[in-house]
Amino acid sequence: MNQSAAAHPAPCDEDVAIRIEGLVNRFGDHTVHDGLSLCMRQGEILGVVGGSGTGKSVLMRSIIGLQKPAEGTVEVLGEMMGEPAPDGDDIRRRWGVLFQGGALFSTLTVAENVAVPLREFYPRMSEDLLAEIGCLKVALSGLPEDAAAKYPSELSGGMKKRAGLARALALDPQLLFLDEPTAGLDPIAAAGFDRLIKELHETLGLSVFLITHDLDTLHEICDRVAVLADKKVIAVGTIPELMKSDHPWIQDYFAGPRGRAALASREIKTDAAPARPAAGNPIDSHPGGEA
Ligand SMILES: Nc1ncnc2c1ncn2[C@@H]1O[C@H](COP(=O)(O)OP(=O)(O)O)[C@@H](O)[C@H]1O
Ligand SMILES: [Mg+2]
Repeated sequence: MNQSAAAHPAPCDEDVAIRIEGLVNRFGDHTVHDGLSLCMRQGEILGVVGGSGTGKSVLMRSIIGLQKPAEGTVEVLGEMMGEPAPDGDDIRRRWGVLFQGGALFSTLTVAENVAVPLREFYPRMSEDLLAEIGCLKVALSGLPEDAAAKYPSELSGGMKKRAGLARALALDPQLLFLDEPTAGLDPIAAAGFDRLIKELHETLGLSVFLITHDLDTLHEICDRVAVLADKKVIAVGTIPELMKSDHPWIQDYFAGPRGRAALASREIKTDAAPARPAAGNPIDSHPGGEA
């Protein structure tokens, strides 16, 4: 892909989940985004990559309204962020977020964590129903039944991520934001989490905005990948499309040793047996595992 073709993401001519135009974010005199544009389609898993500190998390925070941009517009599921919804709908109930690091409430059990967004949006929901939905989301996230009553400190790294996902799914969102969900997980736990995201995407029709450094994840589950560099989204496309770019960061990332290894592993897997460790048991049930 030549760079100029990649530099301007394709116009949003399909069902749009997220449309960002001319986004500028600054902290003091530090400009993080300078005229960033991006379009994500409904129903896709969009990977978002970029070097450390390029503004991936700030981008996600801008989309979900936690970071007020200096300039630009953000439209999510047909609603303009920063403007009151015409029908009074609270857009926040239509998405779920798994923040970098998980951020579970440590003094609440997993089921109680799942209940937090439910209580916020449905304050009159009964305790019985809260508990029932909590168990349902725990199961949906591939956690064993008894995880619902556990505290985050009793869970392994992979289980914590799944608990965070259970909470993100509490409100039956259409759109899921995941910020580096497999960072710090061992390869088996990471593969299990990838597979879960893929399954949820396929079975629930979720659109997924997925920030990740994990090349295996990008190859395994992302429909397209957006690349952040130079304060913008410099390219969006499938990995084979991106690999044609002559941008040095894209070349280093996808065509460097790790990128080639992930690609080779993908090719071997497509030809024969799984190359990435298969998650025999999708749950890495070793409490204290790195997370
Ligand atoms: N609340 C904040 N105040 C000041 N600077 C911030 C704040 N949040 C992020 N930044 C800066 O914005 C840049 C992008 O951060 P971030 O989006 O977290 O990067 P990453 O791509 O690693 O997720 C970094 O230089 C970071 O220091
Ligand atoms: Mg980040």
